[in-house]
Amino acid sequence: MSGDNRFVVVANRLPVDLHTAPDGTRTWSPSPGGLVAALSPVLENQQGCWVGWPGVSDEAPEPFRTDAGVLLHPVRLTEADFEGFYEGFSNASLWPLYHDLIVTPVYHREWWAAYRDVNLRFAQEVAEVAAEGATVWVQDYQLQLVPGILRQLRPDLRIGFFLHIPFPSPDLYRQLPWREEIIRGLMGADLIGFHLESNARNFLDLCAVTEGLTVEGTAGTRRIDAHVVTHDGHRVAVGAFPISIDPGSLGEGEEGGVDKLRAELGNPETVILGVDRLDYTKGILQRLLAFEELLESEALDPASTVLMQVATPSRERIEQYQMARSQVEEAVGRINGTFGAMGRPVVHYLHQSLPKNELRTYYEAADVMLVTPFKDGMNLVAKEYVACHGDGSGALVLSEFAGAAVELREANLCNPFDLESIKRAILTAVQGLSTTPDVMKDRMLAMHRQVAEYDVNRWADAFLTSLEETR
Ligand code: G6P
Repeated sequence: MSGDNRFVVVANRLPVDLHTAPDGTRTWSPSPGGLVAALSPVLENQQGCWVGWPGVSDEAPEPFRTDAGVLLHPVRLTEADFEGFYEGFSNASLWPLYHDLIVTPVYHREWWAAYRDVNLRFAQEVAEVAAEGATVWVQDYQLQLVPGILRQLRPDLRIGFFLHIPFPSPDLYRQLPWREEIIRGLMGADLIGFHLESNARNFLDLCAVTEGLTVEGTAGTRRIDAHVVTHDGHRVAVGAFPISIDPGSLGEGEEGGVDKLRAELGNPETVILGVDRLDYTKGILQRLLAFEELLESEALDPASTVLMQVATPSRERIEQYQMARSQVEEAVGRINGTFGAMGRPVVHYLHQSLPKNELRTYYEAADVMLVTPFKDGMNLVAKEYVACHGDGSGALVLSEFAGAAVELREANLCNPFDLESIKRAILTAVQGLSTTPDVMKDRMLAMHRQVAEYDVNRWADAFLTSLEETR
C-alpha cells in the first residue's frame, strides 16, 4: 500500500507539540530542539509530509496541513512507549552513549524491545503515506532502525538518514548490547549523513570492527565526496553534511527591543548570554561556576556585568536531567545571593521556552554569548547568535567540543572540562570588545559570512542532491 507523498520526513517529534487545556481546548506550539528549527523551513520549501509524535502520550490527531503547507502526520505513542522508547532507550541509553558518556548510559532489554517496536510502527506509518518511488528522509538517533525496516517494506523508496547528534568512537560504541542491530538498521538507507567527517569516520570504523565492512571507495556527488560501503548487497553512501540555520526564521527584532531589554537589566556595561535546552551535555553549570569565580576574583564587576541564562525545559522526568536542573538552579541562587543586590540579580535565569522573536532580541542585546557544551553535534544556538550580529558586534565563547567549532574558528574557543579555559575565554571576549574592537569585529564578520553563506537550505540541498545521485 502506498500514499501520495513524494517527499516524507520522519522524525521522533513533529515540529509542533499538542497541548490540551483543562477545558479540553487543544493548541499547538513549536517543539524544542535544533532538529525542528533546522528542518521546518526545509519542509515548508518542499511542501512535504512530516511523520512524527505530537509530544504527548496516547494522542494522535488526524493528519492536517499547517498554514505553511506542511502535511503533519501524527504517530501515537502510548505512555509505555514514552517510558521505554523515549525516556529509556533514546534518552537514557543512546543519548549519553552518543555524547561520549558524560553520564553513564543505562541499558535495559525492555527499553530495547520498546525501541524496536516503536521504530517498526514509525516505519509502517511512513510506508503507508509515501508515494511509489518517493524520497524518505529519516531523522536522528530515536529512529535508527527505520531505514532497515522501511527498505524491507518498501524497496521502491529512496531512503536517507541524518544523525543530528555526535557519533562516538567505536571503543565507546562497542559497549551497546545491540550495536549490530543498529548498524543493520542504518544500513537500510541509501545515504547516511553526519555533521562532521570525524563522526562519519567513527561510524565507518565501527562498521569495520563489528561487521567487517570496509570502505570500498568514494562516490563523488556534485556536493560532497561520500564513502561507499556495501551491506548485504546494498550500496550505502556515508558522508558529512554540517547542518545550519535559516537566518530568516529568527524574525525581525522588535523596534527598540534591545534598548528596552538592556534598560530592564539595569543598563549594565556587559551583557553575557546563554541559551540551551536544560541538558547535562550543555555545560550550563560549568559556565556558571566559571562566571562565579570571575566575580570572586574581581576580574568581572557584578555592578556592571549581567549574565542571562535561558534554559528550555527538557526531558524533565529523567533523573540526570532533574539533577542537572537542581545543580544549575542552586548555582544561580548562590551567585545572586553573594553578588546581587535587592532588585538587581547578577544572573537572570529563565526555565522557559521563548518565542523566536524574543530570543532574537536577547541575541542582539548580548555582548558575549556562551556556548559551552561538553559535547554537541553542531549547536545551532551559536550560529543563531552569529546570524544576529551582521554588524560585527558581539563575541562568541564556544566549546571546542561543539560541532560548530569546526566552522566558527574565529570564536573564543574553550575546553568546557577546564574551568580556567572557560574563564580565560570569557575574559578575553569581554576585554577584547573594549581593547581590540576592530579585531573582534573582523572575527564576528568572518563568522557571519560563513553562517550567511552556508545556511540550512545549502545543507538540505547538499544532502538531498547527494541522496538523489545515489539512485
Ligand atoms: C536534540 C535532538 C532532537 C530532539 C531535540 C529535543 O536536538 O537531536 O532529536 O528532538 O534535541 O529533544 P526532545 O527529547 O525534547 O525531542
